Amino acid sequence: MPTTEKKRIYVTRRVPQPGMDLLSEYEVKIWDSDEAIPQEELLKNVPGIDALFCLLTDKIDAEVLDAAGPNLKVVATMSVGYEHIDIAECRKRNIRVCNTPNVSTDSVAELTVSLLLLTTRRLLEGVAAVKNGEWGKWKPMWLCGTELTRRTVGILGLGRIGYGVARRLKPFGIKELLYHDVCQVCYADDVGAKFVDFETMIKESDVICICCNLTPQTKEKFNKQIFKKMKNNAVLINTGRGGVIKHDDLYDALRNNDIFAAGLDVTDPEPLPAKHQLVSLPNCIILPHMGSNTWDSRNHMSETAAKNIISVFEGQCAIGEVH
Ligand code: DGY
Repeated sequence: MPTTEKKRIYVTRRVPQPGMDLLSEYEVKIWDSDEAIPQEELLKNVPGIDALFCLLTDKIDAEVLDAAGPNLKVVATMSVGYEHIDIAECRKRNIRVCNTPNVSTDSVAELTVSLLLLTTRRLLEGVAAVKNGEWGKWKPMWLCGTELTRRTVGILGLGRIGYGVARRLKPFGIKELLYHDVCQVCYADDVGAKFVDFETMIKESDVICICCNLTPQTKEKFNKQIFKKMKNNAVLINTGRGGVIKHDDLYDALRNNDIFAAGLDVTDPEPLPAKHQLVSLPNCIILPHMGSNTWDSRNHMSETAAKNIISVFEGQCAIGEVH
């Protein structure tokens, strides 16, 4: 009787168990660490695999795909973003690429709103003042921030996450919701969002949330020229990708009070060194890329990446198919 060989899957990190449970009938090898796999280890471990379960910290380029060889059918990333994968090289080799859309929408949208409020209301400065014994008698003009009520909010990228942010911000009584994207989206009407060109959005918004992907079109879209056109009271929030902002220009803009404050969950580079000049600024709050850090999201992301692999093995459509 012919023996059917088990399909081989390489997983580039320890990931939440629900995804691993789904793959139990395959031959799964894991980079058994919480730290990112070094590129040379990745190259050593991929030859002959049928599927690669990877993360956004792994560079999946032609060299990795060549090392994997002709069995490789699918690269499934446990992330929404896929800028770490060379899509064109995968396409050339007929390798399907899958991501994990939807399952982290709520966690990232919640974090975006949290970061927005932390930043507009200067909450971390308040916490630090208490810890450092700087809390004196009540002062009328101490640690004053800006409120959302009657403000104009701009969203760059009204996709699932941008829409999630918009829905959460509406009850704050904002004056207007503007958005800019590669195209107009139908559900903008649900939240009363108005499509505007990029220039109008940056000039008119008091708060801007970057919720888009990093693409050649969005790379360093926020730079010196743009900061000069923004309002001086503007607050910029980025939970999309760090590369959308030119960080040296952001530093100058915050130092020169061209804009009021920034809240970043994503930076360029990542991790941002503790000595980076942005870290020293009181009006810049930086989080370590933790938008989807909830157990709900991470378990679902792991499951979705695994399901995507199984779907490809079974010749079905995957949940997150990157084209
Ligand atoms: C993603 O999924 O791309 C996020 O940036 C990490 O959760």
